[in-house]
Amino acid sequence: MEWNREQRYRRWEDALEAEQMQLVTMVNQCSWRQSFHIQPVTGLLNDPNGFAYYNGEYHLFYQWFPLGPVHGLKNWYHTKSKDLIHWENVGVAIEPTTEFDSHGVYSGSGVEHDGQLYFMYTGNSRNESWIRTPYQCLAFMNEKGQIQKHEKPVIANVPEGYTDHYRDPKVWKHGSEFFAVIGAQRSNETGTIILYRSSDLTQWNLEGELEIGFKDFGYMWECPDYFEVDGHGILLFCPQGINSEGDCYQNIYQSGYVLGDKLNIQERTLVHTGFQELDRGFDFYAPQTMEAPDGRRILIGWMGLPEIEYPTDKNGWAHCLTLPRELTVRNGKLRQLPVQELERLRGNKAEAHLLIENETRQVEKFAGEVYELSVEFSNFTAEQFGVELRAGDKNKTILKYDTLAKKVIIDRSESGELAGIQYGTVRQCPMASETIHFRIFVDVSSVEVFVNDGEEVFTARIFPDENSQAIRFFAQNGKSEVKAVKYELN
Ligand code: FRU
Repeated sequence: MEWNREQRYRRWEDALEAEQMQLVTMVNQCSWRQSFHIQPVTGLLNDPNGFAYYNGEYHLFYQWFPLGPVHGLKNWYHTKSKDLIHWENVGVAIEPTTEFDSHGVYSGSGVEHDGQLYFMYTGNSRNESWIRTPYQCLAFMNEKGQIQKHEKPVIANVPEGYTDHYRDPKVWKHGSEFFAVIGAQRSNETGTIILYRSSDLTQWNLEGELEIGFKDFGYMWECPDYFEVDGHGILLFCPQGINSEGDCYQNIYQSGYVLGDKLNIQERTLVHTGFQELDRGFDFYAPQTMEAPDGRRILIGWMGLPEIEYPTDKNGWAHCLTLPRELTVRNGKLRQLPVQELERLRGNKAEAHLLIENETRQVEKFAGEVYELSVEFSNFTAEQFGVELRAGDKNKTILKYDTLAKKVIIDRSESGELAGIQYGTVRQCPMASETIHFRIFVDVSSVEVFVNDGEEVFTARIFPDENSQAIRFFAQNGKSEVKAVKYELN
C-alpha cells in the first residue's frame, strides 16, 4: 500500500477506536512478533533515542510512528528496565506538539543534569511549501517520569555552509561542561559532524566541524555518537551514500566508527585508523550508546534500515531494536559482546560434542524458535562448515565458515520471506582463526551472531515459517569438531 502525506501525518488519536483496535489485532496475530527484543506495539520503530541510566533505571526511547509500518509523524516512545533485559513499555514520551517539532520529534539523546534527565532532540518542522527547518530542542524528565519541553529550541539555526539535513544531537558531559555532536550535510552535499559546547544545556556555542579527514564520504551522516573506552576516542556515525566495496558497505546505508586518540576538543580532531563497520549483517542502523553505572559502554541499534520493505509490513508493524551490546577495545577495533545480563534469560540447557564429516547433522534437543546457541568449530579440514538455523523443509538460515576464503558467511536466501533482496541475500567478512566460535541469539524473527568473542557481529531479520525450527550442523569436503551448547530463553 502506498501511504500519502496525509496518512503519514495522522496521529494515533486521529484514528477511530475501531481502526486502532483493528491495527492492534492485526499486529498481535503476526507470527513474527519477537519474544525478547524491544518492538513497537503497532506501527514503525526506528532509531533508539535518549538511552540513559537515571533514577535507578535504564531508560530507552525510540522513534515511533504508531499508525503503520512507514516513516510518518515521529514520536519518542519510552521503555524502561532495571536490568537491560526486561523492558517495560511506558508509553509515548515526546510528541510533535510545537511549531518547532510539528513534523516529527526526531532522534536525540539523554544526559542527567541537576537531578533530571535532559533530552536534546531534533524538532523536524516544515512549512506549507514543505520546506524543512530543523531545530535542536530540549526536554527534561523528573523522577516521577513527567516530561516537559523547554519552551524554545536551544539551537534554532543551521549555521552557514550546511543544509537542512542537520540532526540527531548526541550530548555528553565532560568535567563541568556539556558537548554535543550533530549529524550534518555540507552545502556541497557531503556528510560531516558539528561540535557544540554548553555549560547549562540551554546556551550552546558552535565550535565547528570535527576534523576526521573525510572530505567526501557520503552525502549525509546521521546519528553521530562520541565516547571514550580505555583511553581511546570512538566516534560512531551513519554515512549515507557510500558505494559497496568488496564485503563492505552492502546495506542501503552504513553504520560504523572511527577509533583513535581521544577527541582533541580545542582542535576538534580525532586521529584514527579509518572507518570500520559495526555490524556485518543485513539489518543494523542508527545505534546509540550510554555509560552504565558500572562504567560499561553499552550500545543498542535499530534492527532495520530506512526505505526497505519488510514482511511484517502487511501486519501493520515493522522493526525492533538489537540486544544491548557491551563495547570494549581490542587490537584497534571495537569488540562487541551481548551484555552479561542476558545470561539471566537462560533456561533449559542442551549440550553436544560431535565430529562431523561430509554431512549435515541434526542433533536431538537442538531445535527451537527462541534460544541462545554457542557453537565452536575446531580441528577442521572441511572446506566449509557451519550451522543451519530455523531450518525446515523449505527454510534455513545458513551461518558458515569458508576455510579457503577465510570468511564468515551468513546466507538468508532461503530464510523464508525476504527483505531488501535488492541489496543481496548474503553477507560475509574475513576472519583468520584456528577455531571459529559463534554465539547466536535467535528470536522469532531475528538472528544476532557474535563471532569469535565479539570480533565481528552479524545481525539479520529472518521471516521463516513457524515450523522451521531445526538446528543442523554441517561440514563439506572434510570434517570439523563441534562443541555446542544451547539454552532456551525465558
Ligand atoms: C535515522 C533518522 C535520523 C532521524 C530519524 C527520523 O534513521 O533518519 O537521522 O532523526 O531517523 O525518524
